[in-house]
Amino acid sequence: PVKLAVVGGASTYTPELIDGFARLREVLPLAELVLVDPAAERLEVIGALARRIFARQGHPATVTCTSDLEAGAADADAVLLQLRVGGQAARQRDETWPLECGCVGQETTGAGGLAKALRTVPVVLDIAERVRRVAPRAWIVDFTNPVGIVTRALLQAGHRAVGLCNVAIGFQRKFAALLDVDPGRLHLEHVGLNHLTWERAVRLDDPEGTDLLPALLAEHGAAVAEDVRLPRDLLDRLGTVPSYYLRYYYAHDEVVRELRTKPSRAAEVAALEAELLRLYADPALDEKPEQLAGRGGAFYSEAAVALVSALLGDTGEVQVVNARNDGTLPFLPDDAVIEVPARVTASGVAPLPVAPLEPLYAGLVAAVTGYEHLALEAALRGGRDRVFAALLAHPLVGQYEHAEQLTDRLVAHNREHLAWA
Ligand code: G6P
Ligand code: MN
Repeated sequence: PVKLAVVGGASTYTPELIDGFARLREVLPLAELVLVDPAAERLEVIGALARRIFARQGHPATVTCTSDLEAGAADADAVLLQLRVGGQAARQRDETWPLECGCVGQETTGAGGLAKALRTVPVVLDIAERVRRVAPRAWIVDFTNPVGIVTRALLQAGHRAVGLCNVAIGFQRKFAALLDVDPGRLHLEHVGLNHLTWERAVRLDDPEGTDLLPALLAEHGAAVAEDVRLPRDLLDRLGTVPSYYLRYYYAHDEVVRELRTKPSRAAEVAALEAELLRLYADPALDEKPEQLAGRGGAFYSEAAVALVSALLGDTGEVQVVNARNDGTLPFLPDDAVIEVPARVTASGVAPLPVAPLEPLYAGLVAAVTGYEHLALEAALRGGRDRVFAALLAHPLVGQYEHAEQLTDRLVAHNREHLAWA
């Protein structure tokens, strides 16, 4: 019988996870689910809804709620991390002040993403350390952004951690719908870093199978381009599908202009969360409401269920995860964290070999890996100079004047979360 703990259990995303556990119970025989969160009142609302969803679907797992991490995680088989230090208010600031310097304001990309990393890494490391004491064999599955940097921090500290994002599974589902095949039949050649990836091939039935990507782009290029919010012509010329996070690079200035004219995503999400919490409190609600689809996390429950069941069941299934590079992309350091398909067994995740990365992508991947290294240094050791260095290294910042101004703003807006500032 499997015990899972979800740290950040009072997130409005949790019903998505519960829905996945309930639907996929053949895959993951969950017996005990613990939702851990300091927001006690909100946690009770989410916990009660979780119980109603399980009851409706006849799922036998117990759901408990606690603010006590050690009690909640004790003897867990896996611990999912889905927290947001500083909440949507901190995100709102991350999305706003970089715009003052002409740089993209985004929760995981660029200067805002660095701020998020600095707030988050110490908190996650503390949680992981406490989890290790009460559940030394537990797998830590990290959804907490920025996933690449947070996973690198966890692995560097010796934790049994895997980073997970829904971008790859989102493409798999999208492409399957367009091609009218079962999603499980599609193997994506997905490569890069978290939130910096390209789909280079889409193979049917086995990882060596025919590549359907050229046909997909020819027949459904418009739909795919619309999904990633980049011009179809660009996709055709690349012959790959960049994730929509590449828009912050390939259309940086256009995005900055657009962001300056509209409310932040954080504000949208805050409004949506208020509505979701109202719905969740209704004792008649016993399924995830359709409004939850307005969040970006579609299919993350499926990715989580697949990963946890493969880790615990030693299945050897292949899944796109964030894992240690260890030579997979030979131009990156071994301890870099990359996002690629990996074989998942009880001993962890092992990236499959990756065809040499074209210079068009390799340069950007190398630069962002350098930034992630420096971002982690800044998160672990603090100091204005380390923040500046990370920003200078980021390909979306680069110029020293921008790096200087962004450093000032980052520190000013995050003092309460930075022990050294
Ligand atoms: C995608 C990303 C996640 C991110 C989310 C944001 O799912 O993969 O890492 O957290 O979008 O969604 P939101 O609804 O918060 O804007
Ligand atoms: Mn993600």
